[in-house]
Amino acid sequence: MKIGIPKEIKNNESRVGMTPGGVFELKKKGHTVYVQSKAGEGSGFFDKNYEKVGALILNTLEEIYEASEMIVKVKEPIEREYPLVREGQIVFTYFHFASSEPLTKAMIASKSICIAYETVEDEEGTLPLLTPMSEVAGRMAIQQGAKYLEKPVKGRGVLLGGVPGVAPGKVLVLGAGVVGIQAAKMAAGLGAHVTIMDINMKRLRYVNDVMPPHVVTEFSNEFNIRKHIKTHDLIIGGVLLKGAKAPNLITRDMLKDMRPGTVIVDVAVDQGGCVETTRPTTHEDPVYIIDDIVHYSVANMPGAVPYTSTMALTNVTLPYVLKLANLGWKKAIESDDALRKGLNISEGEVVYNEIIETFGWN
Ligand SMILES: NC(=O)c1ccc[n+]([C@@H]2O[C@H](COP(=O)([O-])OP(=O)(O)OC[C@H]3O[C@@H](n4cnc5c(N)ncnc54)[C@H](O)[C@@H]3O)[C@@H](O)[C@H]2O)c1
Repeated sequence: MKIGIPKEIKNNESRVGMTPGGVFELKKKGHTVYVQSKAGEGSGFFDKNYEKVGALILNTLEEIYEASEMIVKVKEPIEREYPLVREGQIVFTYFHFASSEPLTKAMIASKSICIAYETVEDEEGTLPLLTPMSEVAGRMAIQQGAKYLEKPVKGRGVLLGGVPGVAPGKVLVLGAGVVGIQAAKMAAGLGAHVTIMDINMKRLRYVNDVMPPHVVTEFSNEFNIRKHIKTHDLIIGGVLLKGAKAPNLITRDMLKDMRPGTVIVDVAVDQGGCVETTRPTTHEDPVYIIDDIVHYSVANMPGAVPYTSTMALTNVTLPYVLKLANLGWKKAIESDDALRKGLNISEGEVVYNEIIETFGWN
């Protein structure tokens, strides 16, 4: 199959759909891989690295779309790309159709095969192509939180690990899913005291089994949250209700119970956030302060660490890319239930019910 890797043109997106390692694997199977010039630079991969493993470098986005039977990328196509997507072409990427009617209509009109990373779902109900980004964001949340706890940026002035003779900082993690566990692990590694909360006892049992004793589990309810926000320095929001807005576990009136300079990193911002005062921010201007509480709520945290994020993403997408390339999309989805769930739009028809429901098209 002819596979194309375009350069991402969405604002501030430095990730790329495939590493030279991925190209190497595709070449081994006899496929042709076109990579747009400079597509990997933001992630530390240069044209010469791709050429070395047999990729053909093309200069423009137009050439990539024209030459390829399958496009593998990171973010959804943006307006400039809409007319480039062709009938019968496979596009394998994050789409998040429900958040954009124009994108959905453009892809229907293109009669392409749109397979969305975010809806590929395995038999346990987990989303294997979203997990690595949650892992990145969870770990990064502590890095960012630790930074904004510093006094010059209006934090409490607490060193998370403490020092001999001074108690460590305290981190409250809401949600013991992928984000929450990775955050708890990083905070524990720095020596902080960690409280992690969830409503799912299975998750809490797991955390209790695998984490060191300075990571304490507690059931998530309003009473317990109100108690802990008074004494914790850094609060991480990592809750998720599948397909719904995150619950407001911290309301505006609760901010006054926190000590000035407390930092909230609301990773769940992309689902509306689990703090009432959360609003999306960007890497250029990541924080704002309300009632002396520092809020960090960047909606695409992994974008700040494209080298790690690209590798983490392509590790999990490559097996599916290989399957699609080796078998063609029809046989590939027939043979793989997880991948079948990724199919959102097929030759002009929306086949993923949530999209139809979101836009009221039924
Ligand atoms: N900002 C970013 O850049 C970024 C990156 C990746 C993921 N995310 C977001 O982070 C959020 C978490 O993702 P995840 O992969 O960890 O999800 P996950 O499903 O693995 O975990 C969510 C956890 O929240 C728990 N939960 C639900 N209601 C709760 C409540 N009332 N109190 C406490 N816990 C509760 C669930 O039981 C579950 O264990 C999602 O909204 C995801 O989209 C954001």
